[in-house]
This record gives sequence, structure tokens and C-alpha cells, in this order.
Amino acid sequence: MFAEELITAIKIARHIVVLTGAGVSAESGIPTFRDAQTGLWENFDATQLASPQGFQSDPELVWGWYEWRRAQVLGARPNPAHYAIVQFAEQVEQLTLITQNVDDLHERAGSPNVIRLHGSLHQPRCFACASPYAFPEAIPQEPAAGRRLPPSRCPHCNDYIRPGVVWFGESLPEAEWRRAELAAKACDVLLSIGTSALVWPAAQLPIDAARHGAVVVQINPDQTPLNAVARYNIQGKAGEILPGLVDAVAL
Ligand code: APR
Repeated sequence: MFAEELITAIKIARHIVVLTGAGVSAESGIPTFRDAQTGLWENFDATQLASPQGFQSDPELVWGWYEWRRAQVLGARPNPAHYAIVQFAEQVEQLTLITQNVDDLHERAGSPNVIRLHGSLHQPRCFACASPYAFPEAIPQEPAAGRRLPPSRCPHCNDYIRPGVVWFGESLPEAEWRRAELAAKACDVLLSIGTSALVWPAAQLPIDAARHGAVVVQINPDQTPLNAVARYNIQGKAGEILPGLVDAVAL
């Protein structure tokens, strides 16, 4: 199933980076970012739904979309891909997990110290004063796909609460990006799992890793620009491929 050289490269690696995208949560029933633009939202492009301008021009549309996505995550469970990454980290000397996802399925599966490049659905903050906001226990109402919802209000300044995610046009959290960049340039193997490799600067990480001599491995059912960079392109679903790969390395 897996090339001997790949298994050997992973076995002898001292530092492995795992970079995940929405595809790692697909088998948990969470639509990938581009699939999430369905129903009411399919008529809007990402920059209208995932940008400060989009939020300012229609806060209820954007908040409704994120609350719908958050409700999906709260109702979902980690899948075998998330658990395989936890097991993998216990088997190798050093594993750095970097995710572009805004769900918390890696943490719920047991991964510690997740580097979150694009923030989290579960860490909202005030749009104006940036005060962190604690969601009430349950989502006030089950946000049906396509429903506009009025954003919560900041208890300090009464401005709108916004999702704690990095929007188009916003910069990545500095410290997280630095940690991710250093790990990509220092690792021996980088596994890119379930990302379309279209969004920068995250898409730069596997290229940096390859440039610094790392073995780059891609796991994705589809082709991406990374196919040209990766030494191994394993075509398939993360939840089906990863457990077998982790077992093969453990032997
Ligand atoms: N296993 C592995 N990969 C999968 C699976 C699966 N079961 N299902 C789908 N995929 C792949 C798709 O083929 C696609 O290449 O996952 C990738 C998901 O791509 P996107 O939806 O573009 O998500 P992602 O790459 O994470 O997007 C990066 O862009 O839109 C912004 O901030 C957003 O974090 C997101 C970033």
C-alpha cells in the first residue's frame, strides 16, 4: 500500500510536520470550506462571507453562516484521520500539527499544541474592542442553513461579536505563523492532508519544507498544485489512508 522508501523516511524522521485543511474534517461531516458555500451562501463568494468588509456590509448574513458552521462542528465528532494523527504524534520523536481549519476536532481527538493559522470558530471576539467573548452554553437557536442571525453583542462596548477566524484580507496570527514557518523549514517529513493548497501563505509551507530537503507527502482524493511539489501523492480520503499509514510506520 505504501512505498517502502516513504515508510523508511517517516521511521527515521526526527521531526514531522502535519499540515491539515478542511479535507481532514470532511469525514466528520463538516463540509470543506468551498463546499460550505451552499444554499443561501452559494450566491456569495468567499470574500463576502469571510472578510471584514463582508461582515460590516451584512453582519447577519456572515454571522448566520458562521453559526451554522459552528453548529455543524458542535454536532460532529473527530474521525479516524484526527485520531490517527494523535497516535502518530505518540510514535514519532517530534510532530508539529499545523491546521488551517477553524473547527476544534483535532483538539477533541486529543492533539495538543495545535498551531491554528486561521483561528477558531470557538474563540469569537468583539469586532471593535477585540475582547474575547464566551458563547452561551447552547447555540441560541439551531441555525438552519441559510438563516441570517443577528451577531451577539460585546458586553463591554456593545459592538458586534465576530467569529474568531482569520478573514480574507487579514493577516495570520504572527506567533502562530512564525512557529509554522520554522517547523516547515526544520522538518524531515511534511504531510499535507486535505487541503487544496490554494490559500497563501499556508500553501507556502510544503514548498518551504521541500526546499529545505524534507520529504513532502500529500493525502487528498483530488489533484492540487501540490502534486508538482510532493514526492508522494497518495490519492484517497484521510480517514481511510492515515490509520493504515500510521500502522505501517509502527510495525
Ligand atoms: N480526505 C482528504 N482530503 C479531502 C477529503 C477527505 N476525505 N475530502 C475532500 N478533501 C480535499 C479536497 O479535495 C480539497 O482539496 O480537501 C481539500 C479541501 O480544500 P478547501 O475546501 O479549499 O479547504 P482548505 O484547503 O482547508 O482551504 C484553506 O482557505 O478558504 C480558506 O480559510 C479557509 O482554511 C481555509 C483555507
